Amino acid sequence: MLDAPRNDLDSFWMPFSANRGFKQAPRMLARAEGMYYYTPEGREVLDGTAGLWCVNAGHGRREITEAIQRQAAVMDFAPSFNMGHPIAFEAAAAVAGFLPDALPRVFFTNSGSESADTALKIALAYHRARGQGQRVRLVGRERGYHGVGFGGMSVGGIGPNRRQFGASLPYVDHLPHTHLPAQNAFTRGQPEHGADLADALDSLVALHGADTIAAVMVEPVAGSTGVLIPPKAYLQRLRAICDKHGILLIFDEVITGFGRLGASFAAERFGVMPDIMTMAKGLTNAAVPMGAVAVREDVYRGIVEGAPAGIELFHGYTYSGHPLASAAAIAAIGLQRSEDLPGRAAAIEDYWQDAAHHLAKTPGVVDVRNLGLVAGVELAPRPGAPTARAMAVMQRCFDDGVLVRTTGDIVALSPPLIIERPQVDRLFETLDRAIRAEAA
Ligand SMILES: Cc1ncc(COP(=O)(O)O)c(C=O)c1O
Repeated sequence: MLDAPRNDLDSFWMPFSANRGFKQAPRMLARAEGMYYYTPEGREVLDGTAGLWCVNAGHGRREITEAIQRQAAVMDFAPSFNMGHPIAFEAAAAVAGFLPDALPRVFFTNSGSESADTALKIALAYHRARGQGQRVRLVGRERGYHGVGFGGMSVGGIGPNRRQFGASLPYVDHLPHTHLPAQNAFTRGQPEHGADLADALDSLVALHGADTIAAVMVEPVAGSTGVLIPPKAYLQRLRAICDKHGILLIFDEVITGFGRLGASFAAERFGVMPDIMTMAKGLTNAAVPMGAVAVREDVYRGIVEGAPAGIELFHGYTYSGHPLASAAAIAAIGLQRSEDLPGRAAAIEDYWQDAAHHLAKTPGVVDVRNLGLVAGVELAPRPGAPTARAMAVMQRCFDDGVLVRTTGDIVALSPPLIIERPQVDRLFETLDRAIRAEAA
């Protein structure tokens, strides 16, 4: 006989979580609307993180919910392997229409991690299709996060995410990260120093030969390792070096896409166009999981037109272009347009920046950095107890009705793009109180 279902916290092995600590003192969110979460007891919590950088249009958007409901009633699922369903094509067209013109072809995945691995595989397949199959080397960057698949993990540059799992992909190198606190601390917007760090790619070319390198993948703004804003001219320099050597440039726009930086994508904000772009999160406003990879026309053609008859790319997911996710993506992109969410983020950016930099005077704060509707507030670690201060600050904020996220000793803020000035004030005032309380 089957055991009765257990109604407790034990069964769910929580991802990227301190399971033991959480289960002794859970923080639960039961409902969400607009800028707010609500705990099971009904306590309001201002969302300072758009969930996990994903609910850009705010929570519980009726337009998205109804689109999902309508689609669920019409057709729950149909395969995309050698079969089609109209809404997946509509969704791809909607994504392509929102993207820069240079990236017209869209491959669907279900997450940012799958998008990262898909982008890397497309880069390798592209070179092989044009007779350069020796280009197998992939280059990432220290402190980069590209999800948790073996590709993204290997190209990513976060020690703890890699160390636990032994072997990662071979033929992977890393550029240095761009975090230079000695020169750039408390910069508003893009830092002045560090463009030359892109030249490390030239050094890798000198070491290995350009004809062995397939692609470089970077986050335009790194989020997961604590909000690293690219130095002025850094991305332009990376682009130029890639061009010089025929290396594909992949932007991981999983968090920077869909308005976060006050433009549709970081590529537009920085005026630097990648050859391949990954996205997820804001694509569906997180209402249904979905990711995507967009590529240049010639990357698509290189793989598809050059292949013998039959399947051209031996890659894809059962749920690529899932009908419910497609419906959510179309509706979410509709909101991006109708409410000009990128424009809203741009309009409040200066206010946000000033509010963030007020914390420069708060004891224990060693750096504040920001761009678009993103801010990172770095705290001095407690001696012998790294991350403890930030975790305590996060808990205090939560108890005080504000959700913030921490990574290491950095508090990372990325609210829904519909945030208004009084909510910006509340967010930073609450954070200020919490940091002061944990200053000792
Ligand atoms: C830049 C970047 N890439 C990839 C991912 C992985 O996305 P997912 O958790 O949907 O697999 C994330 C998640 O935070 C991210 O920030």
